[in-house]
Amino acid sequence: MKKTFILLVGLFLISVEGHSQLSQAQRDSINQLTQADHRLMMDRLGLESLRPGPSGNPQAPNAANTDESKVKLVNLPDPLVFEDGAPVKNVEDWKKRKQELFELFDREMYGRTPQNLPEVNWEIVWEKDSLIGETLTRYRKMKGLVDNSAFPEISVSIDFEYGVPKNVDKSVPLVLEFGWIWPAGMQRPTSPPGPSWQEQVLAEGWGFGVIIPTSYQADNGAGLRSGIIGLVNKGKPRKLEDWGTLKAWAWGASRALDFLATDSKINAQKVVIEGLSRYGKAALVTLAYDDRFSMGLIGSSGAGGAKLLKRVFGEQIENLASSGEYHWFTPNFIRYAGPMTQDDLPIDAHELIALCAPRPMFISVGSPTVEGQWIDGKGMFDAAVLAGPVYELFGKKPLPVREFPPLGTNLNSGDLAFRQHEGGHTVGPNWPFFIVWAERYLGK
Ligand code: GCU
Repeated sequence: MKKTFILLVGLFLISVEGHSQLSQAQRDSINQLTQADHRLMMDRLGLESLRPGPSGNPQAPNAANTDESKVKLVNLPDPLVFEDGAPVKNVEDWKKRKQELFELFDREMYGRTPQNLPEVNWEIVWEKDSLIGETLTRYRKMKGLVDNSAFPEISVSIDFEYGVPKNVDKSVPLVLEFGWIWPAGMQRPTSPPGPSWQEQVLAEGWGFGVIIPTSYQADNGAGLRSGIIGLVNKGKPRKLEDWGTLKAWAWGASRALDFLATDSKINAQKVVIEGLSRYGKAALVTLAYDDRFSMGLIGSSGAGGAKLLKRVFGEQIENLASSGEYHWFTPNFIRYAGPMTQDDLPIDAHELIALCAPRPMFISVGSPTVEGQWIDGKGMFDAAVLAGPVYELFGKKPLPVREFPPLGTNLNSGDLAFRQHEGGHTVGPNWPFFIVWAERYLGK
């Protein structure tokens, strides 16, 4: 219990990532700008106040619900039914249904990615051969310079690095991660000992990539008038259906993929997107919206990611709509924290997962006693179950069971895979399970 609270405090500290170097005054200013932007969006939406979200501290009087008997699902939409009530009967129908779902997710939740986004010019900052684990690796540090000629006051660039096994003469698959920046000297606390995920994928003969989302879009509301979102809006506040940070992060991953596709060492048909927590949400959004990504490893994505938002368990829509997290979404989404509720949402996470069909997806979460219940592992599992029929439409295999499995069960027989590991807020212990499953698609 105590651990969960520590985790949440830790996450908060990390979410001001890199900001540990900032002075108190700078942090206060980020906070004030965030509050002001959140308030402005509420005013424009005609919202006076919002319902507060529950607390992630299990001891708090307003602790988030963790009692399964209190969960009810109201107005859960069926991905295989069109908005006019007609059934989706085949893959052709699904293509049209997908457009309806993209429209709803754009308008109500993640926002509209602008048309005509500026070009990104990639440059190699350095390239060297290094031994990573036991693999001699061609390691490149990249910078993606975003064309800002339309508004030179804001400059944006994408930090990205990747490595491929040096001594292979064919193109290789690559796993691309949305990477956290840990404040100087701080190690991710829950990482298991043993080889890093990069060492593991290299040993498999695959490449790895790490893109730094906060290099091109800050992880706070104050940053919405800069970064790629601010550049496109020429420094002005967002409009009510504008994209949020998750979609902006996804845009950056797509640009990295553009570059990877020009590297003859990479098999661009076999690029996996991976992320944890807020970056698990970003990875899922990336996979759903850019079908050039061939598969996903979605770590502890929780609310706003793979977890059913209509489930009142763990983190809630009110938390997502608060000033600390609203920037991940379109401003319109704030309405669901007052007067509307999760029951009014016309979409839910199972449909986001379904948008990734038929591409394989592995959903990962930690132990409820170590990671805590905030992430709601069962909410993500249930969403994956409900996305199953869409995978089946393509002749793909859904999860093999419908009942939430005991901790550690490796549900890897289908194209949708799920595993709840014994550790905390990390993908760590699930990497070897993911790799064995992914070999089926990527080869060794
Ligand atoms: C907070 C937030 C989650 C998010 C997590 C993280 O806990 O409420 O939605 O996933 O931070 O990104 O680590």
